[in-house]
Amino acid sequence: MPDHSPRGRFITLEGIDGAGKSTHARFLAEMLAARGRRVVATREPGGTSTGEAIREWLLHRTMTHDTEALLMFAARREHVVNVIEPALARGDIVLCDRFTDATYAYQGSGHGVSLAMIDALAQWVHGHCDPELTLLFDVPGEVSRERLARMHAKGKAQDKFERETLAFFERVRNGYLARAATEPGRFRIIDSTRPVADVRAELGRIAEQL
Ligand code: TMP
Repeated sequence: MPDHSPRGRFITLEGIDGAGKSTHARFLAEMLAARGRRVVATREPGGTSTGEAIREWLLHRTMTHDTEALLMFAARREHVVNVIEPALARGDIVLCDRFTDATYAYQGSGHGVSLAMIDALAQWVHGHCDPELTLLFDVPGEVSRERLARMHAKGKAQDKFERETLAFFERVRNGYLARAATEPGRFRIIDSTRPVADVRAELGRIAEQL
């Protein structure tokens, strides 16, 4: 395994659509930067020009669920090699809006893609480059639906995933919670039904610990 010292911190943010994750990700990045930390805020699928092109396909084209998983990992490989590993090697904090847990939750639990196949791809694509901390922004499926409907009414275009059923989002949420239960040391579950100020206060405490 390559030595990446000085090693930065690899932190991911996860949750079903409408959990408020991306807004909180920006806030956390600003808070850490204000404390003088070098932060690379990035996202998946995406984070590189090739990854962002793959994202367009993933969010808007019809494809089999297996193809979806394979493209997630293709974009991820570009991201790990070109952005995440170099940033960690520099000693930066990488704040990544979604990573492989999303593939287990969405493609695995949501769409029924083989978890063994996802395990194998994860091993191939990023080996031991795993997040040390994962913030799981948790909301029930109904809350997610209501928030997405409000965003949609305000003019936000819906992507393929956001058009999924409530049952799908419940499966994805349960997939995330099941993963969190198997790795309680890595996951921190954040109740994202609370007012934004309360969630931010919790993120402030997390930033202090970092
Ligand atoms: P975002 O809206 O949080 O940027 O994510 C885009 C969509 O991609 C979101 O609906 C979840 C989905 N997704 C997966 O299905 N599998 C994955 O591995 C990742 C990273 C995202």
